[in-house]
Amino acid sequence: MLSPEEFIKDAITKIKDEIGDEKAIIALSGGVDSSVCSVLVKEAIGDNLIAIFVDHGLLRQGEAEQVTNTFKDKLNFNYVDASQEFLNALKDVEDPEEKRKIIGKVFIDVFEREAEKTDAKFLVQGTIAPDWIETEGKIKSHHNLALPSGMVLEVVEPIRDLYKDEVREIGLELGLDEKIVYRQPFPGPGLAVRVIGTLTPDKLDICRKANGIVSEEIEKEGLNEDLWQYFAVLTDTKVTGVKGDQRDFGYLVVLRLVSSTDAMTAYIPELPWEVIRRMSKRITSEIPEVTHVALSISDKPPSTIEFA
Ligand code: XMP
Repeated sequence: MLSPEEFIKDAITKIKDEIGDEKAIIALSGGVDSSVCSVLVKEAIGDNLIAIFVDHGLLRQGEAEQVTNTFKDKLNFNYVDASQEFLNALKDVEDPEEKRKIIGKVFIDVFEREAEKTDAKFLVQGTIAPDWIETEGKIKSHHNLALPSGMVLEVVEPIRDLYKDEVREIGLELGLDEKIVYRQPFPGPGLAVRVIGTLTPDKLDICRKANGIVSEEIEKEGLNEDLWQYFAVLTDTKVTGVKGDQRDFGYLVVLRLVSSTDAMTAYIPELPWEVIRRMSKRITSEIPEVTHVALSISDKPPSTIEFA
């Protein structure tokens, strides 16, 4: 077992040998795997690594700014705002699996379009061990990717033998911000799977604000260390509430705060009531469209972590 320092030294030599003086691209999401991979490859080939950050408009509050600020001076960093394209493609779609498929497809379209603007020969991917062990046989360690334009990219996966905790250690050794290294997992389709039913800019905005409040309160109390994920779901259920002396009809938001080690199973830990109450009060007072907040208390199984 190599130390993080030895792993980095070894990886840099291998990446230099493999990529040489050619250009490479990476889809950087700001998650720990793609972030560590980007910084590692940058150490090896410098600005010949082009990092592409696709904003699908389904990100959390402040996330695009945070990722941009973290990487704009560290990497050859390209921010691509494709939010309108994603929203158009998702218009009127209710089914969560359909949403996932559309998001995956539009993501590939956008990324390929950006890749074709470069003369990259390599595609760097932040694949880690659990990603390919679960799909063994489907992902080969050496493979090429042909784009519709005829451009062919050779895939490079510098951290494919590492597990999450090892990736974090490498990230720390590379000097990556702890906020990135210990970021809670966020699904690729983003808030699309936390808004039940069709997606509109207004509903995404409500969901984003509610999630912002949950993150703030949980992180302020340091409760995030014991939680795998903590988030809010905007349901499509409307419930009656009262504002002043008027009856009101607004959204039901559900809080989901789970502990887990690998997301295969998850449980609901004991949580301080005053924090739950504070999140509920803030969500209903700061987001006028919400009249009711509920707390999810189902483990996985039988429930999944996400609602959609
Ligand atoms: P579930 O909801 O299946 O989630 O219990 C297990 C873990 O996977 C994440 N998740 C996703 N991640 N694309 C992703 O990249 C997805 O479509 C997706 N769906 C769920 C979820 O956040 C949890 O950590």
